[in-house]
Amino acid sequence: MKKITGFSRLSKNEKIKWLTQTFFENSKEATAELKKYWNTDEKLQQLHDDFTENTLSNFYLPYGVAPNFLINGKYYTIPMVIEESSVVAAASLTAKFWKTRGGFKASVINTEKIGQIHFMYQGKKEDLETYFQQKKQDLYKVTEPLTENMKKRGGGILNIELRDKTNALANYYQLHITFETKDSMGANFINSCLETIAKEFENKDIEIIMSILSNYIPNCLVKAEVQCPIGTDEKSISSEFARRFKQAVDIANAEVHRAVTHNKGIMNGIDAVILATGNDFRAVEAGVHAYASKNGSYQSLTHCKIENNIFYFWIEIPLSLGTVGGLTSLHPLSKFSLQLLGKPTAQELMQIVAVAGLAQNFAAVRALTTTGIQKGHMKMHLTNILKQLGTTEEQKKYLLEYFKDKTVTHSAVTKAYEEYFAKS
Ligand code: MEV
Repeated sequence: MKKITGFSRLSKNEKIKWLTQTFFENSKEATAELKKYWNTDEKLQQLHDDFTENTLSNFYLPYGVAPNFLINGKYYTIPMVIEESSVVAAASLTAKFWKTRGGFKASVINTEKIGQIHFMYQGKKEDLETYFQQKKQDLYKVTEPLTENMKKRGGGILNIELRDKTNALANYYQLHITFETKDSMGANFINSCLETIAKEFENKDIEIIMSILSNYIPNCLVKAEVQCPIGTDEKSISSEFARRFKQAVDIANAEVHRAVTHNKGIMNGIDAVILATGNDFRAVEAGVHAYASKNGSYQSLTHCKIENNIFYFWIEIPLSLGTVGGLTSLHPLSKFSLQLLGKPTAQELMQIVAVAGLAQNFAAVRALTTTGIQKGHMKMHLTNILKQLGTTEEQKKYLLEYFKDKTVTHSAVTKAYEEYFAKS
């Protein structure tokens, strides 16, 4: 039977037993595989078990760091959680590259979060507007117990607006509510406020359909940038490099297939830092990609220009991040990451994350427009194969040199290794 009722009520061991006996030929082996990843510290394991439901084990991802990021004159070592090889190395290389060219500048443009109460109303619009105006103060008032602490930290509800959406859908209106949530991402705060407001606002003519924050936050924006002269010294970049680089960014602005891949490279950096700091990468992904389409077609999130012999490269993205609350303070490694970053405010973290995205994109586009992306990847692939073959340092050196201008495949490397060493 591959179906079960009451699974969530079983103990962790019972769940594993059912699962491994139902879906695996060798249930003992499958159980051992899951248990191999349990933490020996029971309290720590319990903490992870409790993050979500039906937890059976832990799924490791590498936790790495990219040092030497000079951002607004301050050095950061950026934590990154990512499984894709080359991402951390590319970030480190880019940090090193820009450190000698003035580093990264970053600034937060605004920090407004959004929540919406979606409702249906069939009456006269003027009557709804009058009701809303009459009710508005009460809507703030009912949230006072919820907003008290947030207000002390300088946050709270910024504005409540009635929006007529009947052009998009018959009888559809919204309360569009803006928030400042300071150092917290604010999801719980916003959703609690919304549900409280919705209850107060509802009447016999207003049917509340749902109340939820929006992950599209075009007024919660951060900008990160680099710039340097075009020239020949070590503080510059060459005009040929700048020209080809800009061309690649322009292509990503003009063509959706390239834009998606271009932005994926940006998210390699962004998601890695978001994960390492215990933030919600799905929320950020959803919002960022919507922002990439803000002009009506999906475009690059980064921009490039060359003016007066200066190369400019920048990103502007919406980021909703927290440095307090949620997983940020619960997961020991998120806490570690935030400590490593010098306990940043949410605004500082927005800047660091935007820089990581810009750096990752710089590394990818630089590789793509010069040596090609496979060179680095193949070197890594080759190193891994050599490791598997158990080569000595000398053999490794020889084969790395040998494959400099040849295609790396598992069989080609094995063949070369056997030809030159194994049989000798
Ligand atoms: C791979 O994870 C990311 C890249 O495809 C990004 C890009 O093409 O710009 C290399």
